Amino acid sequence: MSYRTIQVAIEDNIATITLNRPEKKNAMNPTMHHEMSSVLDELEYDEAVRVLVITGAGDSFCAGQDLKEYFYDLQDKPADRARARREAEWRANRLRLFPKPTIAAVNGWCFGGAFTIVASCDIAVAAEEAVFGLSEVNFGKLPGGHVTRAVTDHLHPKDALFYILTGRTFDGKKAAEMKFVTYAVPKARLMEEVKTLAGELAKKNPVVLRSAKEAYRYNLAMDYEVAGAWLTAKSNELNYLSGDTWKNGVEQFKRGEFRPGLGNYEWER
Ligand code: COA
Repeated sequence: MSYRTIQVAIEDNIATITLNRPEKKNAMNPTMHHEMSSVLDELEYDEAVRVLVITGAGDSFCAGQDLKEYFYDLQDKPADRARARREAEWRANRLRLFPKPTIAAVNGWCFGGAFTIVASCDIAVAAEEAVFGLSEVNFGKLPGGHVTRAVTDHLHPKDALFYILTGRTFDGKKAAEMKFVTYAVPKARLMEEVKTLAGELAKKNPVVLRSAKEAYRYNLAMDYEVAGAWLTAKSNELNYLSGDTWKNGVEQFKRGEFRPGLGNYEWER
């Protein structure tokens, strides 16, 4: 399938989606939301894909919602607006619960609505030089559509409110310090770093990774007792789905073939 606002490449079991409107700093217009919704469906069921990376073309990761095409042009078109809103949801549960590991490679500008992409990915690696900002107050809006929730989940309240209220920017190093991203590296090394990380994940058993991710994401909504019981059931589900793959791992350990603390078992054998 060909796309107008994104590029998709699959190599070594890693799918890389590049938000591709560099002339508009990769701002998300309704077409991009439609295309992202479709591509996530495709990649979810593509067995050749084990890891998903999202990055941006040019000097921008994503300048948030397209202020003209998403907000302004749709204000008097309720049906188109409702559709665009629904398709914009790909950044929330669709991405958060994507059944494979996801990595945001934040290469540059990252504003407003783009925070939800970073927050919903399992891991985020930023260029130290990237610039983040909750710019909404600067143009008369509040950070809506899960953006406020994304910063509430990730930042200390004092940092969250500071950036929500001032609209000031911060760089990739600061994003890492506040744990909005996992870590930051110099921009020149960003994609090489993300490729290595994605390659590491792509070598692990995808059935196990999927269960481990679901265990994390879903147990958050449960109380302590229910979470414990559910995680035991989830673990049994993984044994069933994986054909007790853990026995293979432990047998390799017993034979002295690897150290689980320091590396991965040979799950494909
Ligand atoms: N929506 C629509 N268009 C956008 C956009 C957005 N969110 N962000 C950038 N663009 C467009 C600009 O209008 C400009 O288009 P033009 O060439 O047709 O005039 C083009 O992208 C390049 O942007 P420009 O402002 O010239 O680049 P810059 O390098 O000087 O500044 C930004 C980059 C990201 C700091 C600046 O574009 C900006 O502040 N964008 C808005 C960010 C924002 O508030 N996003 C929140 C949305 S929820």
